[in-house]
Amino acid sequence: MESWIRVLMFVACLFPVLVECRVRHYKFNVVMANSSRLCSTKPIVTVNGQFPGPTLTAREGDTVLVKVVNHVKYNVSVHWHGIRQLRTGWADGPAYITQCPIQPGQNYVYNFTITEQRGTLWWHAHILWLRATVHGAIVILPKRGIPYPFPKPDKEVVVVLAEYWKADTELVINQAQKSGLAPNVSDAHTINGRPGPVSNCSAQDAFKLSVEAGKTYMLRIINAALNEELFFKIAGHKLTVVEVDATYVKPFKTDTIVIAPGQTTNVLVTADKSSGKYLMAASPFMDSPIAVDNVTATATLHYSGTLSSSPTILATPTPQNATPIADNFTNSLRSLNSKKYPAKVPLKVDHSLMITVGLGINPCPSCKAGNGSRVVASMNNITFIMPTTALLQAHYFKIKGVFTTDFPSNPPFAFNYTGTTPPANLGTTTGTKLYRLPYNSTVQLVLQDTNIIAPENHPIHLHGFNFFAVGRGLGNFNPKKDPKNFNLVDPVERNTIGVPSGGWTAIRFRADNPGVWFMHCHLEVHTTWGLKMAFLVDNGKGPNETILPPPRDLPKC
Ligand code: C2O
Repeated sequence: MESWIRVLMFVACLFPVLVECRVRHYKFNVVMANSSRLCSTKPIVTVNGQFPGPTLTAREGDTVLVKVVNHVKYNVSVHWHGIRQLRTGWADGPAYITQCPIQPGQNYVYNFTITEQRGTLWWHAHILWLRATVHGAIVILPKRGIPYPFPKPDKEVVVVLAEYWKADTELVINQAQKSGLAPNVSDAHTINGRPGPVSNCSAQDAFKLSVEAGKTYMLRIINAALNEELFFKIAGHKLTVVEVDATYVKPFKTDTIVIAPGQTTNVLVTADKSSGKYLMAASPFMDSPIAVDNVTATATLHYSGTLSSSPTILATPTPQNATPIADNFTNSLRSLNSKKYPAKVPLKVDHSLMITVGLGINPCPSCKAGNGSRVVASMNNITFIMPTTALLQAHYFKIKGVFTTDFPSNPPFAFNYTGTTPPANLGTTTGTKLYRLPYNSTVQLVLQDTNIIAPENHPIHLHGFNFFAVGRGLGNFNPKKDPKNFNLVDPVERNTIGVPSGGWTAIRFRADNPGVWFMHCHLEVHTTWGLKMAFLVDNGKGPNETILPPPRDLPKC
């Protein structure tokens, strides 16, 4: 941008009543900060010293410029999870996919425009395991004068759920990678950065939501945990779900929501009691024989006028393996599909893909603890190898030898994916394989869990797009029967979807965003193990169908 335009805009923004300010500037200093509110006092990597990090607030249509300055010893990159980044893949953030990381002492300005999106999303570091503590909310307000499609809440509150380790998370994952075994689980969950009183933690600090009787609150709930899907509930209060992943849904009432890492959920809660203190709880959902951090994070909903010393009204604990509660929630989600917010589900499919998601075991001579082998993860049996040059740069500047475009459209060998005896050969192949899509083509993607080592619920996140979740089932996907039951009218639209444990999910999207777009499991341990791939979407022919040139300050590898 020319500097005089910048000055003019800055001056104009001082008078927001006269002109609509359309550019928002943020500065994110990545710095170490102490974590004395948590289970240990060790310093953690943060943005601006905050955990969770600062909320980024903008309006639909705004351009956002975030200058990220790296003051820590790690390489850093930041992803704006769920922002579509139309033609601006350079600002998407996954390290080595769309950009080289910001090295210590360096900075980079993420510059993107929020187009036709409103609601709650979030930002997080997208390199190593730094997102454990480097994350925060993105609140996108509707355009000025455009109401919510539900009664306006009296107040809005961001609720970030996360995990916390007493140990340095980079050490946790590095040690695990050396051993070949799974990393340790976290020591506590947190609600807005605080675990609440838990026995394995010296901090007794809890988040308190102060409410007034009769008022309605909108909670913008984000699951920023690294590896755990969570249940969330408030004792004695119903939650009305109105939005997920920044798309409106048909409102429904529930006691408990389930939210996977990467997902966001907006709920309305009416303070319909006269007084009291009510427990808010975030606890893990895991319906497979896999270790989780079983410590429940707690907070309170506190009616004004209630003494702090009065007893807290408790919530019935949600069992870790409460699949019916999770299913009931997931099956209740429907796109609003109104005139203003139609569900534009692709009805014709150009590319029909099936991708298995799951684990594997590969040889690892140096892995002593793992007896010479290591746990890996894959999509269509390929463990993705991170390149050392960013894929988007390799694509844009036609650098050869960084990736191939032969990611298979189907599992390389078919087996009873969810059977009790998976094939004896549990290994995976490796590569940096992309799947290439012409601009504006439509895609149906069946994500099929496998039972190799164990079935597990995988929250799969697609960068650059929203998709529609048209179908879901247990066992193996049946290409003849299952599509007959697809919902092509009002399926929920989102950017991260749980593939049910021992089952499948079908999604559809339109490849109307040129660039390189990462798709991966949002359980960070599975991403590390290789449960990831990317789509390469070609430029279209029209004027607004081509990826924009890279910004001048794009980091170099
Ligand atoms: Cu929220 Cu690629 O991630």
